[in-house]
Amino acid sequence: MVNINKNFSKLQNNYLFSSVNQKVSNYTSSNPNAHIISLGIGDVSLPLPQVCINAIHSAADEMGNSQTFKGYGPEQGYEFLREKISKYDFKDLNISPDEIFISDGAKCDISNIVQLFDIKSTIAITDPVYPVYLDSNVIYGRGGEYNFDSNFFEEIVYIPLSEENCFVPQLPKEKVDIIYLCSPNNPTGTVLDKTELSKWVNYALCNKCIILFDSAYESFITNDNIPHSIYEIENAKKVAIEFRSFSKTAGFTGLRCAFTVIPKELYIDNIPLIQLYKRFKSTTFNGVSYITQKAAEAIYSFEGQNQITNNISYYLYNAKLLKDSFEEMNFKVYGGTNSPYLWIKTLNNMKSWDLFDYILEKANVVVTPGVGFGKNGENFFRITAFNTLENTLMAIEKIKKIF
Ligand code: MLT
Repeated sequence: MVNINKNFSKLQNNYLFSSVNQKVSNYTSSNPNAHIISLGIGDVSLPLPQVCINAIHSAADEMGNSQTFKGYGPEQGYEFLREKISKYDFKDLNISPDEIFISDGAKCDISNIVQLFDIKSTIAITDPVYPVYLDSNVIYGRGGEYNFDSNFFEEIVYIPLSEENCFVPQLPKEKVDIIYLCSPNNPTGTVLDKTELSKWVNYALCNKCIILFDSAYESFITNDNIPHSIYEIENAKKVAIEFRSFSKTAGFTGLRCAFTVIPKELYIDNIPLIQLYKRFKSTTFNGVSYITQKAAEAIYSFEGQNQITNNISYYLYNAKLLKDSFEEMNFKVYGGTNSPYLWIKTLNNMKSWDLFDYILEKANVVVTPGVGFGKNGENFFRITAFNTLENTLMAIEKIKKIF
């Protein structure tokens, strides 16, 4: 008799963005004329850069010609793309193309990688956190029981992020094996500088643990002293895996392309992790389409770099407008300068979901309730700068009318 994986029943609620979508669709079915503006999920609004479109057209032509047609590609990704990533994204950091694995999304990589580690490994995540880190471990069986009094999974080590610690994660007192860090942070929009990141790398070296470093938003960093890669920290290659994505950098949320870096120096139980990962990927992944990888490669051209820089500046300008406007309305705002996300405290201790309902119903604007990212997110909400300038301005206008 077959049984389901019982861990699914331990997951709390739906996936956050599915719950948000459900609420929005309930609202629009009873208010069909409402013009809803989303500052909720971090989905881009600008179209793909022209260099990508050109690359897609010419790759499609290659696929239509028997001389240049491509079938299954290498599971690790085409060398032409891995070489560009190595040369441009990790300039001076000596990450070789062999250490780069192309995928269809950082979310998939981050959630699948948990299968590489012993089931008994202790996980440390921040609270609030991008829900995928927690849910993937719960599904895999690392969460333990959910404690309804504390609202925590018993086997997970939670590292609180709060206004008191400026949303900077502090080293845990307990021993942990796998640490998730995200900078620029989703959801708080805050960043970790070299000093903070070095503390974690040293902790991981001393305690023989591994850091899963999510830097999907690194292209939004504007301060020169903030690391774009964890490998800027000495010895990080011995303890860290880095995840990046073209989704927000180049508008690939609909096209799908990302990559993971596993350095050759990274050993667990005396086994080079890269070997295990190659084995894992070749069993579980068919690779990203040739056409998509050609589009990703195009962003490394001179024009491509200009086009993505313009797009990122466009979103950062939205972020500035949002930050200034919410501050004018007396909200306390975090993030939004090195990040497309703004993390905002509700007024008068309003609960996150109450604020979500209020803004949806009165202003027809969608935000993401902070508590959806964890208990410490209560009384906060997250907004994104990824909508168009016009919609961002309209959303600000509508929100100003209700606060
Ligand atoms: C978010 O809104 O947090 C992101 O869009 C989620 C994601 O990239 O998976």
